Amino acid sequence: MREITTKRIMEMKGKEKITMVTAYDYPSGLIADKAGIDIIFVGDSLGMVVYGDENTLNVTMDQMVYHTRAVAKAVKRGLVLADMPFMSYETSVEEGIKNAARLVQAGADAVKIEGGYDHKKLVKKLVRSGIPVMGHTGLTPQRYLRLGGYHITGETEEEIEEIIRDAKALEKAGAFAVVLEFVLSDVAKLVTEEVKIPTIGIGSGPYCDGQVLVWHDLLGFYEHTPPFVKKYADLRNIIQLALENYKEEVKDGKFPSGQYYWEFLDKDDFEKKK
Ligand code: KIV
Ligand code: NA
Repeated sequence: MREITTKRIMEMKGKEKITMVTAYDYPSGLIADKAGIDIIFVGDSLGMVVYGDENTLNVTMDQMVYHTRAVAKAVKRGLVLADMPFMSYETSVEEGIKNAARLVQAGADAVKIEGGYDHKKLVKKLVRSGIPVMGHTGLTPQRYLRLGGYHITGETEEEIEEIIRDAKALEKAGAFAVVLEFVLSDVAKLVTEEVKIPTIGIGSGPYCDGQVLVWHDLLGFYEHTPPFVKKYADLRNIIQLALENYKEEVKDGKFPSGQYYWEFLDKDDFEKKK
């Protein structure tokens, strides 16, 4: 079992902030875990940032299973969380349980679903079956078509009620935490005070119990980064520069120079690195 469990995450509420970041493959899982991130999350955002889709609606269970397996192999300490993709849990509770089980068998410690109140039966059944669940309210990207795009939430009475109702339903059904996506910060604060389970914010201000960001956004890989993301690095440019350098050195015959081919290799060093 990994060091960070859902129980530990719940105990962090009110004591220390919870950190969460997405990861979609073995190297990103390794680095996130080494950095000491609490929750390493295989999000269905992979449809956009890894597969280049316009939204998350094309992500399949098979994709989620493959990527979860790769991340799970890398992570020793953090909690591995996997997203349930569009239409993998909406059709029936049975379908939802079966699909959640596939993610757990691929190495996830918990699953995340979008919504709360509408899925309280599923959440309850999953938790009773031994599968910890995180909910997700505010902006729910799987309802992209109905919402007509990605907008701030919590501006109308109706939206505020829905967000609170989701968070409370999740708490009651036994979920261990809830994501608040693109919610007005005052509303996120209210929800954080109203429920005992931790709230994890994205674009929802400073009052949540934790924060989540998408790997490609925070590292500066992605061209369509939302305005609430802080870029902690500009890897897109760093990688492009490296590739241009490589290209030029090959074109100019500068690479490979002496130390990079067999006759010049340090044979002891080679044996060690093999
Ligand atoms: O898929 C994802 O990356 C998410 C986060 C934005 C919370 O659901
Ligand atoms: Na998601």
